[in-house]
Amino acid sequence: MSADRQLWDSLRHHGDVDASDGLLDFAVNVHGTAPPDWLQRRLASRLSDLARYPTAAEDLAVRESVARRHGRNPDEVLLLSGAAEGFSLLAHLSPRCAAVVHPSFTEPEFALRQAGIAVQQVVVPPPFRLADATVPDHADLVVLGNPTNPTSVLHPRADIHALRRPGRVIVVDEAFSDVVPGEPETLAGISLPDVLVLRSLTKTWAIAGLRCGYLLGSPALLAELTRRRPHWPVGTLQLEAIRACCTPEALAAAEVIMQRIGEDRKYLIAALRQFESQGVGIVEPADASFLLLHVSGRPDLRHRLKERGIAVRRCDTFPGLSDDYVRVAVREREAADALLAAIREVL
Ligand SMILES: Cc1ncc(COP(=O)(O)O)c(C=O)c1O
Repeated sequence: MSADRQLWDSLRHHGDVDASDGLLDFAVNVHGTAPPDWLQRRLASRLSDLARYPTAAEDLAVRESVARRHGRNPDEVLLLSGAAEGFSLLAHLSPRCAAVVHPSFTEPEFALRQAGIAVQQVVVPPPFRLADATVPDHADLVVLGNPTNPTSVLHPRADIHALRRPGRVIVVDEAFSDVVPGEPETLAGISLPDVLVLRSLTKTWAIAGLRCGYLLGSPALLAELTRRRPHWPVGTLQLEAIRACCTPEALAAAEVIMQRIGEDRKYLIAALRQFESQGVGIVEPADASFLLLHVSGRPDLRHRLKERGIAVRRCDTFPGLSDDYVRVAVREREAADALLAAIREVL
């Protein structure tokens, strides 16, 4: 396979491919197996409205809800068909050089390259701190994740501020920020002319199939991003879901999910430490709903786990990582115990 083909394939590889049917899924980081009942009811209540196009008034009402949730103005909100759509809009900023901080979610790099934008990979070595990233001065677009997928590292926002330069736009992918209690490092609530914050509703609310997210940024940047966007880009059900997930009730429910993920992560980390002497390292501190594991000399680990009915996310497709790494989702204890038993067996 050509190096080019391999790069494209790696950048487009996502955990859903690792999690084939019938496997206990630790490869995908969506919380739970279905949207909560209250959200399903809200979506069902809008089915009879689908005959008509979504209106500008509806779009504004939803942007107002998002703006309230983050303490921003509605004109600083761009609703998206999933955070992934946001990556594909970045090319409209026409950057001369986009620096993508790795290891991280690969879709931004894929979207930028596909649009013909020159991309420079900025690979940060373990322990994967943004402060160690050498971003080239000439990069006029910098993309990073916080907390970062797949490392689970939460970067201090001071380190993000340190990357700001005149003529440069910083994009912070906060798709997993809503699992961090209090979100101490989020930039979602801060209006900065050169910083775009991308949020997703996919993970916490188990709506990967609905495609819901939004961008927060200056009205000038949002206008540039949407220059060639098709009309009615976000459907009625997506609008309904975004609005529903911004209510105080939803935020209270998210808080409960967040606490549960924190406890489950603590349990998983403590249990995984028993394998330290067998070469299993955990990237810590971990703040997201998944853990990055380093298992030296066991590139076969994911295959052996698959034979035992368990899917983990391969990591050799992430720039900066090798097949010595796997990513595992934080799941409830019963599932975690099954993973731990399988790892014990394999090791
Ligand atoms: C870090 C990160 N950002 C963005 C996305 C895409 O989110 P969405 O489903 O909202 O497009 C994902 C999905 O896996 C992700 O892991």
